[in-house]
Amino acid sequence: MGKDTVTVTDNRTGRQVELPINSATMGPDAVDIGRFLRDMGYCMYDPGFLSTASCRSSLTYLDGEKGMLLYRGYPIEQLAEHSNFIEVAYLMLYGDLPSPEQLAEFSNIITHHSMINESLKSFFHGFYHDAHPMAIMVGVVGSLSAFYHDSTDIANPRHREIAAHRMIAKMPSIAAASYKHSVGEPQVYPDNSLSYAGNLLNMMFSVPCEKYKVDPVAEKALDLIFILHIDHEQNASTSTVRLAGSSGANPFACIASGIAALWGPAHGGANEAVLSMLDEIGDIRNIPLYLARAKDKKDAFRLMGFGHRVYKNYDPRARLIRNMCHEVLAELGDARDPMFELALHLEEIALQDDYFIERKLYPNVDFYSGLIYRALGIPANMFTVMFAIARTVGWVAQWMEMISDEEQRIGRPRQLYVGPTQRDYVSMAQR
Ligand code: SDX
Repeated sequence: MGKDTVTVTDNRTGRQVELPINSATMGPDAVDIGRFLRDMGYCMYDPGFLSTASCRSSLTYLDGEKGMLLYRGYPIEQLAEHSNFIEVAYLMLYGDLPSPEQLAEFSNIITHHSMINESLKSFFHGFYHDAHPMAIMVGVVGSLSAFYHDSTDIANPRHREIAAHRMIAKMPSIAAASYKHSVGEPQVYPDNSLSYAGNLLNMMFSVPCEKYKVDPVAEKALDLIFILHIDHEQNASTSTVRLAGSSGANPFACIASGIAALWGPAHGGANEAVLSMLDEIGDIRNIPLYLARAKDKKDAFRLMGFGHRVYKNYDPRARLIRNMCHEVLAELGDARDPMFELALHLEEIALQDDYFIERKLYPNVDFYSGLIYRALGIPANMFTVMFAIARTVGWVAQWMEMISDEEQRIGRPRQLYVGPTQRDYVSMAQR
């Protein structure tokens, strides 16, 4: 028996197989089960991929027990304190922190890809004014695949890099245009003198009739929140992008599939759902009733912004956002926003409740982010769009990593078939 192997015995037949163990640099090693179906005749069954690794990755590592999150090995707390979104985007795409010259060049590239094709502007008018901005994002981002034929040979690393730059650069412009459409205001072009976050605020909130000044507190808060949302291992939307990309699909269409997956309230849609939930709870006195509902298996209600597939300790991003909430509300919102008060009480009471303690349900990244967006004047239906802007860096970095991984092939999971065994067609006369 090899040292770095796991031996599995089939107790039905006594047959054994030795499976190699792949070593990780951090976190659990992985048993390679690629031969298991061929050698043992069984599939592995793991709905939701609770304990299945879909790929090798060197981008992001999180430890759910320790509440740890690293981007390319750097702790999220240090990046939040010392870095900025564009620098972290460079780190995720290229693997190391940039030199001053590399950062300046990368920032310039992203800035000069931020305009969208002029004919795209009319796409937004095809939507009703009350279309959810995430629905618009899925449609418009997917349509980018009809524009860039000069960078879609995905076998060409340079094409992949240009597509990644375009995607990162254009998301804020498309997001802002989605917002402008929903409020019936004219779209605003990017301003190359502004930062990534500042540009988004300007494209969302400036109007032709008066000068708009980007608030530095809002700009810093948005830049930080974007850093915290950049990537998160193989979450649902990232796995969707990888699976779409594994078929060789157009990169912009792959990102559109990630946006669609992120929209779900169990995933990135939770930040918008948290605000609706806090609104529904309304008063601190109603918290016990809603906690009871969250624990009632017959009630579909869940405490939005609580729980996580991996974090069984406090989500480090939630802690950073919670602290920033105080600062932003003091500067921009009403210092004691009743929603923030309610959120603090809900968190305090839930974390003392056995049901949440036993299931290690802590606030996640979505619990507080909506409160900050609200203080920045961003409407609730744009919260997940904010998440999508930041996560686009993670999606494109994961997509690039997958395409260049020689182990990767088209994703094609198996199944545990529990349907009817073979049977013959029954004519209508005999039914
Ligand atoms: C994000 O994967 C990522 O990394 C995602 C993300 C990222 O950056 O990409 O971190 C972003 O999506 C954060 C999660 C945002 N979603 C929400 O806040 C929605 C509310 N949370 C739940 O839907 C849930 O916690 C999930 C979806 C986040 C995790 O679900 P799991 O891992 O499948 O856990 P589970 O549903 O099996 O729950 C385990 C138990 C169950 O109870 P029992 O059957 O054991 O009795 O905990 C309960 C659940 O009923 N539970 C909750 C709960 N979350 C889990 N009960 C009440 N309220 C909740 N929020």
